[in-house]
Amino acid sequence: MLSPEERQRLVAAAREARECAYAPYSHYAVGAAILTASGKIYTGANVENAVYPLGLCAERVALFKAVSEGERAFRAVAVVTSSGGTPCGACRQALREFGADWDVVVADEQGEVRLETTLTVLLPASFSREDLAD
Ligand code: THU
Repeated sequence: MLSPEERQRLVAAAREARECAYAPYSHYAVGAAILTASGKIYTGANVENAVYPLGLCAERVALFKAVSEGERAFRAVAVVTSSGGTPCGACRQALREFGADWDVVVADEQGEVRLETTLTVLLPASFSREDLAD
């Protein structure tokens, strides 16, 4: 569970990150912020490309930034969009790699929380590295 301060800090970071979205094709700007177990925040925005499938969602930009800096333990992700849209299926699976126990906060561009849930709820009966164990 996030404290009110943590939630506010995370949503504020995602809102700020959304300012850097590069979305000239969809015009749908997304900001994401990830809270690590140690209290650090990593942010990301969606980055599109003229070769459309190459674009990357904000959540995965934030996740890959964090993981490539050595982070492995996460508590929560906040996502900010104009509509309060939830993380796409691919991002849910990418986040799941690092645990099922994430809090997920979805907010709109005013920073109003539209949904607060968990990754387990968003991705039930998920596939993970444990399924690969022999
Ligand atoms: N997008 C995200 O960044 N996160 C999501 O979870 C949903 C979709 C981006 C991808 C693309 O740049 C734009 O939003 C429209 O799909």
